[in-house]
Amino acid sequence: MRDETKCLHSGYKPENGGPGVMPIVQSTTYRFDSTDQIAALFDMPTAHMYSRFSNPTVECVEKKIADLEGGIGAMCTSSGQAASLLSVLNLCNAGDSFISTSTIYGGTVNLFAVTLKRFGIECIFVDEDASEEEIDKAFKPNTRCVFGETIANPALAVFDIEKFAKIAHKHGVPLIVDNTFATPILCKPIEWGADIVVHSTTKYMDGHALQGGGVIVDSGKFDWTNGNFPEFTEPDESYHGVIYTKDIGAAAYITKARMQLMRDFGCYPAAHSAFLLNIGLETLSIRMQRYCENGLKVAKFLQASDKVEEVKYSALEGDKYHDLYKKYLNGGCCGVISIVIKGGKEKAIKFMDSLKLACNEVHVADIRTCVLHPASETHRQLTDEQLVAAGINPGLIRVSVGLENVDDIIEDLKQSLDQI
Ligand SMILES: Cc1ncc(COP(=O)(O)O)c(C=O)c1O
Repeated sequence: MRDETKCLHSGYKPENGGPGVMPIVQSTTYRFDSTDQIAALFDMPTAHMYSRFSNPTVECVEKKIADLEGGIGAMCTSSGQAASLLSVLNLCNAGDSFISTSTIYGGTVNLFAVTLKRFGIECIFVDEDASEEEIDKAFKPNTRCVFGETIANPALAVFDIEKFAKIAHKHGVPLIVDNTFATPILCKPIEWGADIVVHSTTKYMDGHALQGGGVIVDSGKFDWTNGNFPEFTEPDESYHGVIYTKDIGAAAYITKARMQLMRDFGCYPAAHSAFLLNIGLETLSIRMQRYCENGLKVAKFLQASDKVEEVKYSALEGDKYHDLYKKYLNGGCCGVISIVIKGGKEKAIKFMDSLKLACNEVHVADIRTCVLHPASETHRQLTDEQLVAAGINPGLIRVSVGLENVDDIIEDLKQSLDQI
């Protein structure tokens, strides 16, 4: 099946006479005929047993996203932040380190630089554009993974997945890619060498600003037996001595994430949330095409304005990341555009407050056009140095172009630009 078809048909196959639409299984528990059957599930998770580990409705969505990304399995989480957290914790213990590019979502920077540090896990940030030799220097004997974002929020840098995958693999560790902005419709990181893919499904996948969520997808391709990951090759005492690589095989990573981390942290989404997410996924492919079309028209309009100092949008010729865009992104670079208004923060805020159609809100990658000022909102917690490293100018505005008629979006931007 191709993507449009997968969006509609993957994950749920109605049985003969069964409901045509994926049903919501609103139950925390599952009944079994015998104690032995339940006991066996504690040794090997072959069926649903409790809503903190899995749910049939959520499972359909997990299968659909895994299929779209070309992965072997997936696990949904209650937020994108939880997905990023668990993707790293599944590999790193206190005393370990990992590497991330600095141009990633501000909440992830905070999680990696501040919160994980409190738990003894060190994140070493590298410049996205650094050479292989420079990135090599960030590796230590305790480095457990490398992390990057396909289209960085809000710097809109395009991540050189193949370069980072090659470097990570040379050092015997996996590459994790946050594919939130690109979605598997524009880029499938696994095809370029990524081992694990994470998403905030709150964004384009849900698409309608209905509910938060996240997902971790396992490519099933990384060799966990290479000596660097004893937690995968030695018995897990917290899980009846399971040896993930031996007893589970290719899906070792995602099974370990579910059976260890989801069990202990309990950030599993509700069935109803998965049902809503699935409705978003059904139209993801067609929506992404229109976001890209609208985004490019708006980016060109903004680029032509004498009130705008800079437009970051990799589909524009001349953009710093245009070559990487052509390599990695399939026909568009989503609807998110970062602009710098001439005159700094004050003018930027005046511009935002003068908009009539575009919503001023803490959101991005939505069906409705919205704007946000990262330096004073989502990235407020970053230091000035971190803001620069994340590619955020104080006057930068993130415009998330939605699916309204593009002429209406442009008219609104124009009337607002006229006021500054
Ligand atoms: C690229 C990216 N990753 C992760 C997150 C965190 O996702 P959530 O807000 O669903 O926790 C966000 C949120 O904006 C994001 O933009």
